[in-house]
Amino acid sequence: MSTAAPTAAGLPRAGRAEPPPAQRKLRRLLPYFRPYAGRAAATVGLMLVVTASGLAIPALAQFAIDHGITAGDKGVLLLAVGLFVVAGLIGWLAGYYQTYLSSWVGERVLLDLRTDTFRHLMRLELGYHERTPTGRTVSRLTSDIEALEQLVTDGVTSLVINGLTFIGVVVILFTYDVELALLTFVIFPALAIGTALFRVYSTRAYRRTRERVADVLATLQETLSGIRVVQGFGRQKPSEDLFRRVNEEYREANMSTIRLSGTYFPGVELLSGIGTAIILYFGATRVLDQEVSVGVMVAFVGYLSSFFDPIQQLSQLYSTFQSAMAALEKIFGVLDTEPEIADTPGAVDLPRIEGRIELRDVSFAYDRTPVLTNLDLTIPAGETVALVGTTGAGKSTLAKLVSRFYDPVEGQVLIDGHDLRGVTMRSLRDQLAIVPQEGHLFAGTVAENLAFGRPEATDEELRAAADAVGATGFIEALPDGFATRINDKGSGLSAGQRQLISFARALVADPRLLILDEATSSVDLRAEQLIEDALRGLLEGRTAIIIAHRLSTIRDADRIVVLEAGRIVEQGTHDELVDLGGRYAALYGDWAEVSGTT
Ligand SMILES: Nc1ncnc2c1ncn2[C@@H]1O[C@H](COP(=O)(O)OP(=O)(O)O)[C@@H](O)[C@H]1O
Ligand SMILES: [Mg+2]
Repeated sequence: MSTAAPTAAGLPRAGRAEPPPAQRKLRRLLPYFRPYAGRAAATVGLMLVVTASGLAIPALAQFAIDHGITAGDKGVLLLAVGLFVVAGLIGWLAGYYQTYLSSWVGERVLLDLRTDTFRHLMRLELGYHERTPTGRTVSRLTSDIEALEQLVTDGVTSLVINGLTFIGVVVILFTYDVELALLTFVIFPALAIGTALFRVYSTRAYRRTRERVADVLATLQETLSGIRVVQGFGRQKPSEDLFRRVNEEYREANMSTIRLSGTYFPGVELLSGIGTAIILYFGATRVLDQEVSVGVMVAFVGYLSSFFDPIQQLSQLYSTFQSAMAALEKIFGVLDTEPEIADTPGAVDLPRIEGRIELRDVSFAYDRTPVLTNLDLTIPAGETVALVGTTGAGKSTLAKLVSRFYDPVEGQVLIDGHDLRGVTMRSLRDQLAIVPQEGHLFAGTVAENLAFGRPEATDEELRAAADAVGATGFIEALPDGFATRINDKGSGLSAGQRQLISFARALVADPRLLILDEATSSVDLRAEQLIEDALRGLLEGRTAIIIAHRLSTIRDADRIVVLEAGRIVEQGTHDELVDLGGRYAALYGDWAEVSGTT
């Protein structure tokens, strides 16, 4: 069990390190757009049309005023109105397709990114998942992807259209009248300083928001998955307090971004008002002096709003962008986590194995404290070995090394003489089944759960496996028998029934190696006989490591290995060890007393 505090884990690494520049992150995102390059290009083309039709409006107004109204030419006026309508229609149509297409591309990109991230998570070793709070991982694929969504669907559109509009307006204004154009830009320095400040503070604020929302999800997930304990100990109130606290921090983080936007955006609005006032005053003066036409002045006021609009939108986009960059940083953080346990370059497929397991001078530690020390153990093919020892002795750890969830720090783990480091994970796991203490069931039917390890198994095979472990009786008593849907908690089934399904699932997979980690401890004693039969069916013809508290299971094993503080202290058959009168004899004495069997 990882003992890291939920709120502390995961955050510091991303928070402390200097983030790589946004450009690099964006460049990494680019390949995701490549498959949709054609559509993306079409989107950009449509954006040009949208921008052009928007820019045409004030110019058409100028044309109508100066050449229609002032000149008293109705024909020109009608032409201008017609063009107005056409520009509007074109803008609307192009806007529609552009929105549709850019969202289409954006959603595809996100789908691919989400899929990639999920695939990567599946590849990351068990150790990663033991270290990382599940809620934090969940937030990578939910809230972080959502933050990106805003950027890739609307954000890019906004960037292109507003950027082009801004440039277009500047060019047009200077073409109309240099003096008025220069006046407009008097407010520019104030705008630039404000925008720069906004950028600096909002970057920080948005990163904090992403971290806080991940905290909320992590806390929620953790509390819900431990709800039985929370309620059992009557600790609802402290959980509520904790949840309120992380939410409070999230709210605080959010509020600081809102305060920033609340200051900045109305500020731009104010500057825009000042700009318009300047143009109205000086523009009107120049009209009276007959230096510019009324049409030009009207166009100026029109363009002015489509000048400030883009600035505001682009700054807003900057928030979106910040948020997305913070999210990307987190997502790439996951993608950049290399699996510590992975196929080595020259890894070979393990052929169908006999099942001889050998540990050579194996030492292991999760962090620094040694958990296993200089372990030597050979398990001949087909043998059943029972691992016994007190809690924390290292039994589960040994099982994790044999299934290569971890690599030993020193020494080697070999199966049929192949060092596990040199074989492909796939070929190993295909021939191995693990039944943990809490048999995990997935949402789906009983049959689907049975076939989990070998989806191609036939109904007959599933039934045979259920028969072999004595699970058929209760399965058939379920409303729909094998087709009964259960949820991922296995609701409606007792712990023992869930475990029998796990046994049958292992049997269906027909592994060469079987590892049972306290798999029988949740089954009640009355089912003892049933379990013994189940086990016998399961163990036949394969190598098995059984970690058990159950006396009967241990006694029947070909060999018993006693672990203590990461070392093997005794091994032999039940009778040999009892005669030896050592650790096992003592343990056995205790068990016999508890279970009433001798
Ligand atoms: N994922 C982990 N991270 C850090 N320490 C661990 C982890 N799993 C187990 N440990 C530690 O390793 C030791 C052996 O644990 P384990 O193999 O689970 O014992 P057993 O199965 O015999 O009860 C214990 O001290 C435990 O605290
Ligand atoms: Mg254990």
